[in-house]
Amino acid sequence: MIFRQLFDSVSCTYSYLIGSRKGGEALIIDPVLDNVDRYLRLLSELDMKLVKAVDTHLHADHITGLGALRDSTRCITVMGEQSTADMVCQRVKDGDRIDVDGIRLKAIHTPGHTDDSYCFLLDGRVFTGDTLFIRGTGRTDFQNGDPVAQYDSIFNKLLRLPDETLVYPGHDYKGDTVSTIREEKVYNPRLQVGSAEQYAEIMNGLNLPNPKMFDIAVPANMRIGLCAV
Ligand SMILES: [Fe+2]
Repeated sequence: MIFRQLFDSVSCTYSYLIGSRKGGEALIIDPVLDNVDRYLRLLSELDMKLVKAVDTHLHADHITGLGALRDSTRCITVMGEQSTADMVCQRVKDGDRIDVDGIRLKAIHTPGHTDDSYCFLLDGRVFTGDTLFIRGTGRTDFQNGDPVAQYDSIFNKLLRLPDETLVYPGHDYKGDTVSTIREEKVYNPRLQVGSAEQYAEIMNGLNLPNPKMFDIAVPANMRIGLCAV
């Protein structure tokens, strides 16, 4: 398998390029508009053809590369069925499969950070978007976020995956790249709670400022980044 974790230093976003072989088809998770040229160059260097571009949710902190990648590669754009983004080709629901040339992702609906948040499972790895971070979790205070729903998504879906499952988050602000379900169960400070109510209390007390890009990114991402200037 070809697997690349690509970092955007402005928004601290991780994007993931995945394919089964050189010369084959590939998919990308959470591409960032500003890095589209870099992805296209890497795809050509690896002799891979991008056929699917997937967003884990409608992002508020960067503009998605979905539309630009669709225009340059004719790939299929994929988001969850709850997403309000326009012009998405394939909408997945909980349990759906995304197949690309021997690679199979399973969609897990994990509302909480947003109501359209999904995680994707691939052979012992889970891409957790902004639902679960390394020693953190995604904020739940806008875009129909809901801490009780996020507690359920994390405790009743993600933490039930095998302990050794590798966790690849949508962001990291400290430079960590990968964790495991077991590590997060034991060491993630937000997950050391006894109930959904206790978790909601922590999340509702965070008082975070809106992301810098919020007013630009959300409307642009409703059109998969195509109206960005
Ligand atoms: Fe997000």
